[in-house]
Amino acid sequence: MTSRLKQHFPTVGNIAMGCMGFGGDWSNDHYNVQDSATVERAIDTCLNHGINLFDHADIYKHGRAEQIFGDVLKASPHLREKMIIQTKCGIRFADEQVPGRYDFSHSWITHSVEQSLAGLNTEQIDILLLHRPDPLMEVDEVARAFDDLKQSGKIKCFGVSNMHPYQIDYLQRYVNVPIIINQLEMSLANNDWVNEGFNAGISNERSHFSPATIEHSQLNDIQLQAWGCLAQGKFTGNGDQTTSHTSNLVIKLANEYNVSPEAIVIAWLMRHPAKIQPVLGTTNAERIKACAQSNEISLSREHWYQLLVSARGQALP
Ligand SMILES: NC(=O)c1ccc[n+]([C@@H]2O[C@H](COP(=O)([O-])OP(=O)(O)OC[C@H]3O[C@@H](n4cnc5c(N)ncnc54)[C@H](OP(=O)(O)O)[C@@H]3O)[C@@H](O)[C@H]2O)c1
Repeated sequence: MTSRLKQHFPTVGNIAMGCMGFGGDWSNDHYNVQDSATVERAIDTCLNHGINLFDHADIYKHGRAEQIFGDVLKASPHLREKMIIQTKCGIRFADEQVPGRYDFSHSWITHSVEQSLAGLNTEQIDILLLHRPDPLMEVDEVARAFDDLKQSGKIKCFGVSNMHPYQIDYLQRYVNVPIIINQLEMSLANNDWVNEGFNAGISNERSHFSPATIEHSQLNDIQLQAWGCLAQGKFTGNGDQTTSHTSNLVIKLANEYNVSPEAIVIAWLMRHPAKIQPVLGTTNAERIKACAQSNEISLSREHWYQLLVSARGQALP
C-alpha cells in the first residue's frame, strides 16, 4: 500500500515535525532571538535526520509559529525545496463578540491561506488540512475554496484532521481533489485507536475513537498522521507513578534495541501496518534525534503487544 501522501510526495519521511511549539510562549505577542535559534536548530536537525514534512496551523502561537518559521526560510531560502510544508485552517479563537468556533467558509479558508503564505514566506503550501470538523460545513463552499486554491497554485494537496470516516467520505464526494491525510491524536497513551478495533462486537467495552477510522484510511490510502505521539513525554521521563510500569518497560526495550526511549514510543506507532506518520511536538533538537532513531528499528509483535497491554492497563484477550 502506498499512501496518497507518498504518491504525491515520494520523498516524504516516515516521521513529521509538528511546529506548534515554535514561536515562543502562547501568552507572549512576540518571539525572541532564542526562540529563533531553537527553530533553526530544530529544522536543521530534522532535515539531517530524514524528517522533511513540517506541520503547521494558522492558529499556532496565534500565527507566530508560521512567522518564525518563515523568518528562517527568508534567511535561508534554499531550505524550502528540501521541505514539505503542511498547514491547517478552520479553527477560530474567541474575540470580543464571538466565542471560539470552527469555520470552513470559503472566505475564512482563503483568508487563512493568505495569512499562512505570508507568515511562512512561501509562494505555495504543499498541503492544507481542515483542522477540526465544522458542523456548519457547506461542502460546495469547501469544494470551491479548494478549487480556487489549487488553480491559483497556492495549495498543492489537501487533507483533514480529527475527522471520522463518514465526514471524510461526505467531503470527498464533493471536492475535486483527493483527501490525502487525516491527522488524529494517537499514541501509546491515547491507545483507543487500537482498542476500538478489539471492541467491535463486544457490548460492555467502550472506546472514544471513531469506529473504523484506521481501516477507512487503509482502504482509501489516506495517510494517518498521529498528533500527541510522544504523549508529552509520559513514558519517556515526564510521567508519574501511574505510568512508571510502562516507562520502565520502555527503558528495558530501549536498551534491548539499543535506541532511545523516545524511539520505542514512536516505533510503537510506526509498527502498525497502517504506516502511521508520527508528528513530533518537541522543539528540543536532542529529543528530535532521539525520536529519529525509531527509523532504525521495527518492534517485534510480542514487544508491541507488551507495550500496549502495559499502557492500557488491562490484559488481553
Ligand atoms: N491536528 C490537531 O488537532 C493537533 C493538535 C495538537 C497538536 N497537533 C500537532 O502535533 C504536534 C505534536 O503534538 P503535541 O505537542 O501535542 O504532542 P507530543 O509530541 O506528544 O508532545 C510534545 C511536548 O511534550 C514535551 N515532552 C516530550 N517528551 C518529554 C519529556 N521526556 N520530558 C518533558 N517534556 C517532554 C515536549 O517538550 P520539549 O519541546 O521540551 O521536548 C513538548 O512540549 C504539534 O506540534 C502539532 O503540529 C495537531
